[in-house]
Amino acid sequence: MNPDARPATLSVHAGERRPGPEGSVVFPIYQGTVYSVEPGTDYHDIKYIRLNSTPSQEYLHDKLAALEGAEAAVATSSGMAALTSTLHALLRTGDHLLVGDCLYGGTHDVLSQHAERLGWSYTEVDPQRPDTWAAATTPRTKAFLVETITNPLVRVPRLPEVAAFARQEGLISVVDNTFASPVNCRPLSFGFDLCFHSATKYLNGHSDIVAGCVVGGTALVERVRRTLGLYGGSLDPHAGFLLARGLKTLALRIRAHNHNAMALARFLDEHPKVATVNYPGLPGHPDHAHAAELLAGFGGMLSLRLAGGVDAAQALLEALRIPYSGPSLGGVETLVTRPVLTSHSGMAPRDRQLMGITDDLVRVSVGVEDAEDLVDDFDQALSRV
Ligand SMILES: Cc1ncc(COP(=O)(O)O)c(C=O)c1O
Repeated sequence: MNPDARPATLSVHAGERRPGPEGSVVFPIYQGTVYSVEPGTDYHDIKYIRLNSTPSQEYLHDKLAALEGAEAAVATSSGMAALTSTLHALLRTGDHLLVGDCLYGGTHDVLSQHAERLGWSYTEVDPQRPDTWAAATTPRTKAFLVETITNPLVRVPRLPEVAAFARQEGLISVVDNTFASPVNCRPLSFGFDLCFHSATKYLNGHSDIVAGCVVGGTALVERVRRTLGLYGGSLDPHAGFLLARGLKTLALRIRAHNHNAMALARFLDEHPKVATVNYPGLPGHPDHAHAAELLAGFGGMLSLRLAGGVDAAQALLEALRIPYSGPSLGGVETLVTRPVLTSHSGMAPRDRQLMGITDDLVRVSVGVEDAEDLVDDFDQALSRV
């Protein structure tokens, strides 16, 4: 497959074996854990599911790498396994990390609850303010971690500047690309060393598996793969099959998410009961100008606050008929949630306040339904709050 093919062509064809085993157009599930070993095989080349080296896993890795324009990829049993295996692969006791100051709640919790006991330290920096990063960097700083679009305030960091700063300081740049997906953003093209996903979300797209992946250069991904093999967070081939199937419609789905979220954001932005809409596609969003340069589409995630505060926010969730009220994101169905009760509930209230995640914030993962139906549904729900 031509690596420069466009996203929909890559989604369908990247990584596919031609011909496939037994001529199959759909790559089968190799569910076995055991494969015979040729004499002299290196331990790391043995085929075993936990070592991420079985045929179904290698097929999936090729597909994921091609979608992100990476040399290599490894699939993981969750987005959190992707994050933690990356951190364990990169950091030793005493090392320090620079992190964006608005991260997914689980990422924030790993750092705030586990970094100290592992002997890692970290400093939160504003990923919009390159002028502040040097002062936060120490001789023990090893990596710089950000997200392409932050959760739930959908800010877009200065991504090329993060990658360039990391390169200049000898740090490994790592980015969580879950919210954007490789259809809207390919961070390795900005110079990032490693990119990871909760593949539970857009990559799979159907809210029916938990998975993750790490992509990047061969040497770094191999470090992550070996760490993952020891810690045991590998993806089962059956879930990998569902992920590969989901990936085939990734570009189609992302186009629909982009379209629908833009339509809903515009509608909400004009609505008198809505106080704030956070969506990088709106000209009033603080990152709109650079987001328009960095992203091929603004994504399916938005968040909002109502003039009526917490009670109105809760009433909105209950009045909507199409969306499900629930956490997670990136599936075909629209989901609404209040991050204070779900994704960011583990965070100390003070930390949430500092990040701007107020109790009345509503996050919407805009699905692939018809945009007009979603707008009509929000319209009727807002008339009842
Ligand atoms: C941006 C982001 N990164 C990572 C994760 C963790 O992913 P998982 O639930 O697949 O472990 C999530 C989950 O919501 C997320 O939203």
